[in-house]
Amino acid sequence: MDMGVFIPIGNNGWLISKASPQYKPSFELNKQIVLKAEHYGLDFALSMVKHRGFGGETEFWDYNLESFTLMSALAAVTSKIKLFASTAILTLPPALVARMATTIDSVAPGRFGVNIVTGWAPAEYTQMGIWPGNEYFGYRYDYASEYCQVLKDLWGTGSSDFKGEHFQMDDCMMKPMPSKPIEMVAAGQSERGMEFSATYANYSFVMGMGINTPTAFAPVAKQLSDAAEKAGRDVGAYVLFMVISDETDEKAEAKWESFRLGADMEALKYMGVQGAQDDQAGDGATAKAINLPEGAVNFNMGTIVGSYESCARMLDEAAAVPGVKGIMMTFDDFLVGMDDFGTKIQPLMQSRSSVQIAAE
Ligand SMILES: Cc1cc2nc3c(=O)[nH]c(=O)nc-3n(C[C@H](O)[C@H](O)[C@H](O)COP(=O)(O)O)c2cc1C
Repeated sequence: MDMGVFIPIGNNGWLISKASPQYKPSFELNKQIVLKAEHYGLDFALSMVKHRGFGGETEFWDYNLESFTLMSALAAVTSKIKLFASTAILTLPPALVARMATTIDSVAPGRFGVNIVTGWAPAEYTQMGIWPGNEYFGYRYDYASEYCQVLKDLWGTGSSDFKGEHFQMDDCMMKPMPSKPIEMVAAGQSERGMEFSATYANYSFVMGMGINTPTAFAPVAKQLSDAAEKAGRDVGAYVLFMVISDETDEKAEAKWESFRLGADMEALKYMGVQGAQDDQAGDGATAKAINLPEGAVNFNMGTIVGSYESCARMLDEAAAVPGVKGIMMTFDDFLVGMDDFGTKIQPLMQSRSSVQIAAE
């Protein structure tokens, strides 16, 4: 069972609250987090791409670094952990992303992969004059499929002559080729999103659900494995959870309660409006889930709150759900959270009993 960390490339991580730790993203902070993750035997780190924040008193996500350039620098200072950068496919042509990924693969051979992001917040793109209109919501996974086909051609053969509806290559060349196939991940939660992941991704993210309900996402993982079976491919579910831990359940719950009470309502309202733009979103879609007012202080992310023992038990329960190949975590405080996970939670997890930590 793989463990990963969703590193805070944007300010304040994933808590939209005035009461949670307030910090800006930097290379130095993310380097410390990823070095700790590597030290504790975590398997991967992923950074998202976000081009416009939600404002409010906390200026939520108004500060964001760029995903590929950050991961390239992290590639140079790490030696074992896998690193994933995210491409917002409306912003970067696939032939360029293919070469960027090959470049990072040359920094960290065999350790780099790409997260394919179709985009859900139009304002990120209208501000650059590149939003195709809300009809994009209807065809974004067709667009993403062609995008991935070009990536696969270039990484697999060094050239592409792909002719599609959205992308036309003309003997497009890209050498050197990567040292081994570059893995792709995606996070579509809708039916079409899962069908896309089943066809192109090596792993697909599934949103954990609820507070201390670590197996509530199981039906979604089942949907993914059904789609993968239909596509005849092996696509593991990586589940996303926020972990808020402390010495006792009560102490952890008190932290969570204070974050909730400190919700940055203005930023949450902005997020709701952006999420509501996709009026074709089905019930399972993230666009629907994030369109909730107060509840979303944790980005509506499945959250595990408790003592180190409780967190270990709940993470093990999530790991035991059929189809799960890994868990990706966020924390309220990433530096403390990473240390607490590595020294107090992971040693109690049966699903991580094979992890050996090197001596300091
Ligand atoms: C783990 C994870 C990572 C994601 N990374 C990004 C990202 O970097 N940028 C972004 O705009 N959306 C990101 N998303 C949103 C997804 O790409 C996708 O738009 C969302 O899950 C909605 O998919 P759906 O419309 O198929 O339900 C992420 C979602 C998850 C669960």
